[in-house]
Amino acid sequence: MPMPILGNVSYEVKRSNAGLGLFAREPIKRGTWIIEYVGKILRGKEVTAHKGNKYLFETSRTRMIDGSARSNTARYINHACKPNCEAEIFAGRVFIKAIKRIEAGEELTYDYGKEYTDEYIKPHGCRCAFCSSKKEIKA
Ligand SMILES: C[S@@+](CC[C@H](N)C(=O)[O-])C[C@H]1O[C@@H](n2cnc3c(N)ncnc32)[C@H](O)[C@@H]1O
Ligand SMILES: [Zn+2]
Repeated sequence: MPMPILGNVSYEVKRSNAGLGLFAREPIKRGTWIIEYVGKILRGKEVTAHKGNKYLFETSRTRMIDGSARSNTARYINHACKPNCEAEIFAGRVFIKAIKRIEAGEELTYDYGKEYTDEYIKPHGCRCAFCSSKKEIKA
């Protein structure tokens, strides 16, 4: 697969149900490459030294991207169990793609994966739209 080309997508950082989040300002077509998750590449022992950093994105068994800089706007995308985006890795780089049509004002989300959610999301409870609606039904 060739390296993705980002679409001309308008988004904004706003308060969401789970801290800050990234929201579409205009409709986004399914399949559009929205944003790249960027940061310093950590290798081997450097990864262990950053344990506890919530902005690490694992790109291989030995490499991670430290996306904690505020200039990495993709760091504001929250996790959801029924997301509208997906993160894909291309030669160690991470790109976020819309996996369904997204309406203006909708929050952008992707599934962080089991390892991350078990460690950082589940202990405090997932606040994605799907889990929040399940809680409302139970109440
Ligand atoms: C990459 S950051 C996402 C942006 C973050 N909300 C912020 O304000 O900077 C990941 C962190 O956001 C929070 N988060 C993301 N998705 C969440 C969710 N579905 N439920 C609860 N917390 C979530 C968790 O604290 C997680 O470790
Ligand atoms: Zn959830």
